[in-house]
Amino acid sequence: MNKRITIIGGGNLGGSIAEGLVASELVQPDFITVTRRKLHLIKHLTDMRINTIDDNLEAVQGADIVILAVKPKQCINIINEIKPNLSKEAIMVSVVTGISIREMSDAAGNGMPIFRAMPNTAIAIRESMTCIATNHNSQEDRDLVVQIFEQVGDAIIIEEELMNASTVLGACGIAYALRFVRAASQGGIEIGFSSRVAQRIAAQTVKGAASLLAKNGQHPEHEIDKVTTPQGCTIAGLNEMEHQGFSSSLIKGIKTSYEKI
Ligand SMILES: NC(=O)c1ccc[n+]([C@@H]2O[C@H](COP(=O)([O-])OP(=O)(O)OC[C@H]3O[C@@H](n4cnc5c(N)ncnc54)[C@H](OP(=O)(O)O)[C@@H]3O)[C@@H](O)[C@H]2O)c1
Repeated sequence: MNKRITIIGGGNLGGSIAEGLVASELVQPDFITVTRRKLHLIKHLTDMRINTIDDNLEAVQGADIVILAVKPKQCINIINEIKPNLSKEAIMVSVVTGISIREMSDAAGNGMPIFRAMPNTAIAIRESMTCIATNHNSQEDRDLVVQIFEQVGDAIIIEEELMNASTVLGACGIAYALRFVRAASQGGIEIGFSSRVAQRIAAQTVKGAASLLAKNGQHPEHEIDKVTTPQGCTIAGLNEMEHQGFSSSLIKGIKTSYEKI
């Protein structure tokens, strides 16, 4: 890809995006610039031949895509700081939680295309689920932004009004899934495994189950049917979990997170 990408805020997320893009070979490292104030903390990016700089205004000069990866309270100040050098042909992509496209568009003031993206922490290993919203109609630019986040996992475009819902299901969802793994591991210890082996079995089993859905595209129940022999142990355990409120507690938890966000 022949685009100059500037990432403002080379922290957990900004750094992961830069590293993911380089690892995917979609973008040459010298086409990427990452900023933060404590530059010594991103020396590993410099070692990968990514440009690093602490001057945001200079960093966005000539950028085709500007990715904002700072904390929410810094977002609008930073747009005000960089706007003298923001081209209206450039694309702005924000991974900042809770700042709307309208707020960013008002701050930028030049009518440039603005995207919001909500990745999750698996972005660090290029396995994020990233939901993207935009006010911009160009299919080419939409595809471009999706393509960027596909280098660090899966990515889809959603309506902006669903950004909070995507945060709950996709970003908080990492914690829900990990709590499942922890509970399964604890069950595994009860039936005889060491905690290390139980966690390894539980984690790989969850990964395999998720991959079955991703690869086969079937409803979960279709795969469950293959495991549940009549009068067998799987259906007995599964039904006991449901009697104890398994699905119900997950759905209620997701709704509670959504009410709280
Ligand atoms: N982590 C997640 O899973 C996740 C998921 C979805 C969305 N988000 C959102 O993504 C954003 C970033 O999250 P994060 O976890 O990556 O936070 P983080 O690790 O704290 O990264 C923020 C970075 O911004 C830099 N920064 C602060 N002020 C700056 C300035 N004036 N100029 C340039 N860089 C500046 C900080 O470095 P210096 O202090 O050295 O400047 C820091 O490295 C947040 O808004 C968060 O809500 C995070």
